[in-house]
Amino acid sequence: MADPIPPRATFPPGFLFGAATAAYQVEGTRFGGCGPSHWDTFAATPGNVVRAEDGATACDHYHRWPEDLDLAARAHMDAWRFSTNWSRVMPDGMTVNPEGLDFYDRLVDGMLVRGLKPFLTLYHWDLPAALADLGGWRNRDTCARFADFAEIVTRRIGDRIAATATINEPWCVAWLSHFLGAHAPGLRDIRAAGRAMHHILLAHGMAMERLRGLGQRDLGIVLNFDRAVPASDAPADLAAAARQDAIFNRWFIEAITKGAYPTEALEGLAPHLPQGWQNDMAVIRQPLDWLGVNYYTRHIHAAAPGPWPATREVEGPLPKTQMGWEIHPEGLEHFLTRLARDHVGNLPVYVTENGMALAEPLDDSTRTAFVAAHLHATQRAIAAGANVQGFFYWSMLDNYEWAEGYEKRFGLVHVDFETLARTPKASYHALAQALAHN
Ligand code: FCB
Repeated sequence: MADPIPPRATFPPGFLFGAATAAYQVEGTRFGGCGPSHWDTFAATPGNVVRAEDGATACDHYHRWPEDLDLAARAHMDAWRFSTNWSRVMPDGMTVNPEGLDFYDRLVDGMLVRGLKPFLTLYHWDLPAALADLGGWRNRDTCARFADFAEIVTRRIGDRIAATATINEPWCVAWLSHFLGAHAPGLRDIRAAGRAMHHILLAHGMAMERLRGLGQRDLGIVLNFDRAVPASDAPADLAAAARQDAIFNRWFIEAITKGAYPTEALEGLAPHLPQGWQNDMAVIRQPLDWLGVNYYTRHIHAAAPGPWPATREVEGPLPKTQMGWEIHPEGLEHFLTRLARDHVGNLPVYVTENGMALAEPLDDSTRTAFVAAHLHATQRAIAAGANVQGFFYWSMLDNYEWAEGYEKRFGLVHVDFETLARTPKASYHALAQALAHN
């Protein structure tokens, strides 16, 4: 039998357990005056998303949130990670929709009455289409508009939030979406990518300044990390993996903690950054109160012909999830200890996402083993001195998995997308048992 999930008592006192969600992936956008976002546009464009599915209905969390929060409370969770849909709060990118703010107000109160600490992410990718029309993250003005949005949300619900993250996964916002073309807006354009790589950090910095000015505390950001393994010891492959590591794992954290971009990434991106970018580094480099770490997998990289970054991925040998991602818990330990050593020292860190997609509807013992292995990896990092204070499973519910549509199931709880019925899986029960207070 697989290793069981380590019980709560084996973690430091006060360690928080929770599950993560994101607005566009669970809420549904048909109700409450939500406006169109660039994800609606992306999904409506043939070839971008499996079966061209979108987030219009998703899990209907907009109406069913009480049931979803009950599921978390019944699993003895301590916290709930959610995001605010920018297009719900500001449907045309400018005007505030009071119904949108009312929804998040109810949702946060719903967490508090159930004893769940609200972990807010301001931006988990639902850019209003009206701002996409103006260039989205290629346009520097979007940064100031994001700071406005951050202020509007914080004025309404900030008094009840345990921790606020500005942005979820800037690598996905910038690189995956503007260079690799896999997420909205679906661009494959290095100049657009250079701008987005910088502007998303400037947006973070400007929002941090704005929220600090309002007296808001517990401010951070959620970054994703993906171990870059060289395909061989050949110098060209080592250099390819180092370039990948710089773009993915170092660009954002080094900008925030050192006020500088890594040389291996600047080599290719410098010509495509907005003019005068150096002058923004002071705004970007601001103390965080905490860091969120999302971790799923590793990738193997080899040198490839062609223009910078001149790398290609090589298929790895490890068992894979339904996403095709190798299962590699050691990578989580690697990043938690590396971040403490090289970047954030003793800053509180939360694993804000970790999980696996799996086709099995209810008997998902593979998922239980995955969670157990990644919690053990977290414990090893803590033993090595990393100040990890919580762990959020991605995700509570099967949901809209972006370009994969509804096909890839990450949930502890099964969702029937015809009836929207929720059914806890075996992994949900295993986690609930490990988290029970005794
Ligand atoms: C992360 C995203 C999250 C979810 C998981 C599987 O990159 O933050 O929304 O899609 O991957």
